[in-house]
Amino acid sequence: MRTGISIMFAISAALAFSADPVTFTKDVAPIFQRSCQNCHRPGSIAPMALLNYKDARPWARSIKEKVVRRQMPPWHIDRNIGINKFKDDPSLSEKEIATIASWVDQGSPEGNPADMPPPRQFSANDQWHIQPDLVVSMSKPYKLRAKGGDEYYDIDIDPGFKEDVYISAVETKPDQGFRVVHHATTNLVEDPEEDPVGLFLNEYAVGKNADLFPENAGRLVKAGSKIHLNLHLHPYGEETPVLVSVGFKFYPKGKVPKYVTFTQHMGDVKDDLDLPAGQVTRSDGYFRLPKPALVSAFQPHFHARGKAQCMEAIYPDVNPYSARPLPAKVETLSCVSEFQFGWSLTYPYAEDAAPLLPAGTIIHVSTWHDNSDNNKNNPNPKNWVGYGQRTIDEMSFAWVSLYYLDQADFDARVQTRNAANMAKR
Ligand code: HEC
Repeated sequence: MRTGISIMFAISAALAFSADPVTFTKDVAPIFQRSCQNCHRPGSIAPMALLNYKDARPWARSIKEKVVRRQMPPWHIDRNIGINKFKDDPSLSEKEIATIASWVDQGSPEGNPADMPPPRQFSANDQWHIQPDLVVSMSKPYKLRAKGGDEYYDIDIDPGFKEDVYISAVETKPDQGFRVVHHATTNLVEDPEEDPVGLFLNEYAVGKNADLFPENAGRLVKAGSKIHLNLHLHPYGEETPVLVSVGFKFYPKGKVPKYVTFTQHMGDVKDDLDLPAGQVTRSDGYFRLPKPALVSAFQPHFHARGKAQCMEAIYPDVNPYSARPLPAKVETLSCVSEFQFGWSLTYPYAEDAAPLLPAGTIIHVSTWHDNSDNNKNNPNPKNWVGYGQRTIDEMSFAWVSLYYLDQADFDARVQTRNAANMAKR
């Protein structure tokens, strides 16, 4: 692991020169307040609280390991390759990581209690990654039985939209029973007679954050649409009530965004997915963009054997009929190199970094599964695994959010982007 090693060097170098003792109250608590406590507090999703010194002290070693390896806070995009500018990037800076590591190396001292910042206040909305304008929930919890195989539960909920609305962000999350919710997909059903399945809206899988659409781009929800929820549930040993909610952020009333955005699978490998027992296997899938596009987010999807995924763009040939054609230009857009099972995060690109891709670009998705016993999440390293819906089967694709552009708009944006890049040099 290259990153880990270089971080360790940076940390030991920083340590050798730091004279000031690092304390919990002065240096570490402010980082925890901003980056950890929303999950690490009673009633939220993490197994232990990190609100004060007493909470944190017993976890010091583990905290150092998790932050140095960038497993906490969860954000597993590979920083060494591809695009590295995202919206709402929660990850720690190198300096914050060094501070936490030094604190642990110095014996995790508490410091002066007077240095402790006032406690962070949380509201019900802090459970969300967005500040929703509207939250729509199932009317009552579904009771999942204690034991047995996976179960699917389908239900329509009515958001009560009397007129068409454009949403700028959407997030689906379990309010009750998050442990048993393997994933939840939401579809917009505009007309139950005509199209009972509806249009894919978004997906929640364990650890998922919100879908944020780019500036001037929204998802259209027509008046009267219902939201169809499909829950994929995995019994956990005790009867569990499950309640799922969908939170929306809207464009201001009357504002129609210029682009209508959507999220779809790319690079699926289905029947060919062939994962022999005891080894790491790579599989490759492709999707050709029919029109120029702006790609706004990337989210790898696999199950417990997921190890890594990269998305690259294979550009159309510039001059394919030349006697000496050049090789196609290939660019890695993003990789998640150390996927952590349980964290199906979406990575929304910053506005000025979101890939602008010409018509005919092939999105190439490479996925690595670890079906060996090195993978501690592997339910059974002795079994061959292939494609399937169940938690114990595997999948291999990327969720990609995008919208299409007309050629003139695309050309203009490429020019603006190039000019901005030139100016930065
Ligand atoms: C988005 C929610 C979230 C954030 C933010 C977050 N954590 Fe976690 N953390 C979890 C969950 C859930 C687990 C248990 C599952 C796992 O390990 O992935 C966990 C596990 C851990 C563990 C391992 C506990 C064990 O059982 O060994 C440590 C240590 C930890 N977190 C520290 C931190 C620190 C330090 C931060 C901030 C720098 C942080 N976390 C930010 C949700 C979060």
